[in-house]
Amino acid sequence: MRIVLVGPPGAGKGTQAAFLAQNLSIPHISTGDLFRANISRQTELGKLAKSYMDAGNLVPDEVTIAMAKDRMEQPDAENGFLLDGFPRNVSQAEALDELLESESMQLDAVLDLEVPEDEVVKRIAGRRVCRNESAHVFHVTYKPPAKEGVCDVCGGELYQRDDDSEETVRKRLEVYHTQTEPIIDYYKAQGLVVTISALGKVEDVTRRAMEALKRGE
Ligand code: AP5
Ligand code: ZN
Repeated sequence: MRIVLVGPPGAGKGTQAAFLAQNLSIPHISTGDLFRANISRQTELGKLAKSYMDAGNLVPDEVTIAMAKDRMEQPDAENGFLLDGFPRNVSQAEALDELLESESMQLDAVLDLEVPEDEVVKRIAGRRVCRNESAHVFHVTYKPPAKEGVCDVCGGELYQRDDDSEETVRKRLEVYHTQTEPIIDYYKAQGLVVTISALGKVEDVTRRAMEALKRGE
């Protein structure tokens, strides 16, 4: 299956993607995680991306599309993938369509996670991420680690993302509404969108998502 996950910052895309990718046996491809990996390796791409990410803006399309394309062309993505955080504006969606078309492939679904803004603000404010592996995500209240500041999975240090400050979150939400939300209409026109509520327990949201994807098939 080829799936795109959309939703505001803090909706739980990364959290859900980990379970969905496992259930569906497809790789989880997160452009945010790819940028953060470049930042920690201090690559040129990482340096460029950090300046945009810290301000809550989108990284320019040219580098983002090239990075996403490169990842989607890896052998593990041959039979499907779950895209998280890409595409993030209409021109990225058009670039993805072109890429898929050139390989005679198509998307199966666009899963839209709906969460009220006050809830995403709470989720982001309490989020803590592992320095070793960005898929290891915790929350001080909703998913506290057994030992404060330490990742349950690998023992790595937990930290608060630089772009999770209140001011940057406000900017990211604005960018979501103005630049990313239009892709929902773009995909609605292709009949691909399935919308679910992302409120409630993580496992309930995963169940809802799996049922919606089955219905959408
Ligand atoms: P990215 O990393 O994609 O961030 P985002 O879209 O803002 O999403 P988040 O990672 O903040 O949230 P999430 O929805 O994954 O939530 P999570 O599962 O962590 O992008 C960051 C930046 O990179 C962008 O601003 C941009 O600069 C750049 N970028 C990335 N892609 C780009 C692109 N395509 N083009 C250009 N620029 C790009 O959950 C949040 C918290 O809530 C966690 O603490 C979690 O434990 C908790 N939680 C999750 N589910 C629940 C639940 N059901 N109940 C209670 N708590 C929950
Ligand atoms: Zn970890």
